Amino acid sequence: MLIPMINVALPKGRLGDKVYKMFEAAGYPCPSMDDNNRKLIFENQGAGVRYFWVKPSDVSIYVERGAADIGVAGKDILMEYCPDVYELLDLNVGKCRMAVAGKKDFKDNSTKTLRVATKFKNIAREYYSRQCRDIDIIKLNGSIELAPILNLSDVIVDIVETGTTLKENDLQAFETIFPISARLISNKASFKFKSRQIESLRSQLKLQCPTTE
Ligand code: PRP
Repeated sequence: MLIPMINVALPKGRLGDKVYKMFEAAGYPCPSMDDNNRKLIFENQGAGVRYFWVKPSDVSIYVERGAADIGVAGKDILMEYCPDVYELLDLNVGKCRMAVAGKKDFKDNSTKTLRVATKFKNIAREYYSRQCRDIDIIKLNGSIELAPILNLSDVIVDIVETGTTLKENDLQAFETIFPISARLISNKASFKFKSRQIESLRSQLKLQCPTTE
């Protein structure tokens, strides 16, 4: 009987390279991935796996709609877009945090609407609504740290990894909203119809997850 291939969406970039090495060590190698070219799809029929490189924020879209059976996405993306997928495993890599930050001398005035610059509109909205705080969201697509410096916003809600970007721009993190790491996610129908393969991949991959990073 022909075993169905598992289609895996991996986030393009440094995190994806690291995660692919974990899949490889877990018994799902795909030697053509090491070819230095611009291809986006790679498969190893022997190992029953096909990989796609996709933009990190798009992984959950491919998985939710079944274009990929499984994928690896950051908890930030899962919290922001709430895709209808199963979260199978915390890979314990790609660790960082979602934080509120601003200028070091920022003094909050709770009677005024807070101007919040962010890529993560839903996370910011939910965080401040839990505090019953009126905010004005300014949606940006990158270099979020510029916003408080240029007085476009009072604070930012953004990812902090090493803290270097904040430090080098004289900014400070005030609060952590939640910790972030990369998660293995699965399409719901795939998890039902390819359950044996996905379960076995999950348990092999679990053995490759660092206990601390
Ligand atoms: C992310 C994030 C911060 C930075 C944090 O930006 O938005 O700007 O990394 O990392 P650090 O704490 O290690 O300095 P990214 O590099 O993804 O670029 P962006 O400005 O396009 O969002």
